[in-house]
Amino acid sequence: MVEWESVLHEAADRVQDVRDRLVSAQEGSERMGEGAGGDVTMRVDQEAEEEIIAAVRQKGEVRLIAEEHGESGPRDARWTVVIDPIDGSSNFERHIPFYCTSIAVLEGRALDDATHGLVRNLVNGDTYYSEAGGYSTKNGAEIKTSIVTDLREAALGIDISKASLPVVKSLNELIVHIKRQMHLGANALETCFFAEGRLDGFVDVRGKMRVMDMAAGYLIAKQAGAVFSDERGAPLNPAITVKERFNVVGGGNKTLHAHILSRLRSG
Ligand code: IPD
Ligand code: CA
Repeated sequence: MVEWESVLHEAADRVQDVRDRLVSAQEGSERMGEGAGGDVTMRVDQEAEEEIIAAVRQKGEVRLIAEEHGESGPRDARWTVVIDPIDGSSNFERHIPFYCTSIAVLEGRALDDATHGLVRNLVNGDTYYSEAGGYSTKNGAEIKTSIVTDLREAALGIDISKASLPVVKSLNELIVHIKRQMHLGANALETCFFAEGRLDGFVDVRGKMRVMDMAAGYLIAKQAGAVFSDERGAPLNPAITVKERFNVVGGGNKTLHAHILSRLRSG
């Protein structure tokens, strides 16, 4: 049996070392080319991903879905490891202290097959972790989603980066009915803030969410009490590939989730 918990922690420690070495060096943001996910790969992205892959591969053959290197390993491997080495690369480059590494292990071909998820806040070291069938933790202590049910009291993470005009317009009705709208620039970490109740919900209906950004945070938030769907209320079922893009609507509880969906429908 693979001890995924220790493997994921080791991988996160290795990424932390890369980040700590490169954070104040110009070369951390050096352009290395284009990653499989379609974005520019910086040196920090590349080195971080290499460390995660090295840590994971010690445990035998796995299928890898990785933002920079793309897809590799046998399609029929028991385990799929989904990696975003640095989520929030723009924040890293601009010295805005909000970015993380995100690693998920799946036993199957759906987001709901995630068995282990770890997100490390690379700025302060906070580590969010969950295993299927268990609960979610931050630095070992259990976390829970928000109990806020009233939209007027809700602070929501809403990603509108590079959203189309129709998408922005469709969000108006929701945005004017909530207490705060935020987008912090690293969806995996934002999903963990949602998992621990710092944000009451999380919405990304741009059609741009990637499984690499979401797989670990999804498990962590779900097991902390989050209710997730797409923008129409259907369960999330993205293909586990580098190119897949999908929408996410998350509420800290059923009631808030339903209110968010109803404002999206009337938007
Ligand atoms: C990005 C972040 C950001 C979101 C972008 C993602 P990256 O991931 O999660 O919050 O708006 O769509 O691409 O590129 O920093 O790994
Ligand atoms: Ca990234």
